[in-house]
Amino acid sequence: MKVIKNPLEMQKTAFKHFKNGDEIGLIPTMGALHYGHVSLFKKAVKGNDITIASIFVNPTQFGPNEDYLKYPKPIQKDLEICRKSCIDYVFMPLANSMFPMSHKTYVEVKTLQDTLCGSFRKNHFRGVATVVLKLFNISCADRAYFGIKDFQQLRIIERMTKDLNFKTKIISCPIVRESSGLAISSRNSYLNDTERKLSANIYKILKVAAQDFKNKDFKSIKKNTFDRLKEIPVSKVDYIEILNFDDLSPADENAKKVIFAVALWIGGTRLIDNIFMIKPGRS
Ligand code: PAJ
Repeated sequence: MKVIKNPLEMQKTAFKHFKNGDEIGLIPTMGALHYGHVSLFKKAVKGNDITIASIFVNPTQFGPNEDYLKYPKPIQKDLEICRKSCIDYVFMPLANSMFPMSHKTYVEVKTLQDTLCGSFRKNHFRGVATVVLKLFNISCADRAYFGIKDFQQLRIIERMTKDLNFKTKIISCPIVRESSGLAISSRNSYLNDTERKLSANIYKILKVAAQDFKNKDFKSIKKNTFDRLKEIPVSKVDYIEILNFDDLSPADENAKKVIFAVALWIGGTRLIDNIFMIKPGRS
C-alpha cells in the first residue's frame, strides 16, 4: 500500500494505471474509518484491479459553526485499516493542496442540494460535489463507492456524474449498523455511553414507520415518528421527510417506493438515518 499526499503525483500514478488498462475503484472518505467504510473498501477491492481510498476532511463542506476543527483524525489507525483491507493507494492530501487560496471553482447540483440536510447545512453539498469531482479527476476512477447512509449525498453524486458526463460508475452500498441498530458513523465517537444507548432507538423508530407505510397516511407517520423521537429523548429534530426514492422530490400518498429520512440531535451530536419504504404488492 502506498500513501500519496500530492494531488498531481496521485493523478499521474492513477493515469499510469488507466493507460495500463487497470480498472480503478475510488472510495472517498473523511477518515476516522469504521466498518461502514470497510464495507465499501471490500466491495471496491473485489470489483477493481486497483483501489484508491481517499482520506480528506474537506473544509468546503463544513459550515462555520460545524465540527471541521474537531473532526477525528486517527491517522495511524486509519492507515492500518486501509492496509488490512488491501487498499492499493491511500490519497491523503493537505487542505491547501486541494483548496489553495486561489481556488475559485465550485459545482452545484441544483434542487437536490437544497432539500433535507441541504436546507440546514448551507453550501454543504456544494463542497461535497466539488471535492468528489476533483477526486474523480485525480483518480481516473472507473467506479466510485458511496454509502446509502448518506442517501442525499449519493443521489447528488449520481446526478453530477450523469450531468457532467463522467465515465465513473457510482456504486451504492448498504448501511452498516452496530448490533444495536445504530448506523455506524465517524460522528458516533462524539456520543457518550448514555447517548449511544439512546441513539439505538432511532433505527427501531424508523422500522415502525416503515411498517406504518403499509396502512397509514404520511401525516400520521411523520407525527408518530416525531412523538417517538421526542420520547428518546432527542434534543432537536431537524427533519422527518418522506421523499421519492429516485429523485428526492416530495412524495405523494400514491408513491410506490420512498425514502424516509431523519436528521436529529442527541445532545450536541447531529445524526442522520434513513430507511426505504415500499408499498406491498408494488416494487
Ligand atoms: P465519510 O462520512 O467519511 O463517508 C465516506 C463514505 O462512507 C460515504 O460514502 C458514506 O456514505 C459511507 N458510510 C459512512 N457510514 C456508513 C455506514 N454506516 N454504512 C455504509 N456506508 C457508510 O461522506 C463523506 O465522508 C464525505 O462527504 C465525502 C464523500 C468523502 C466527501 O468529502
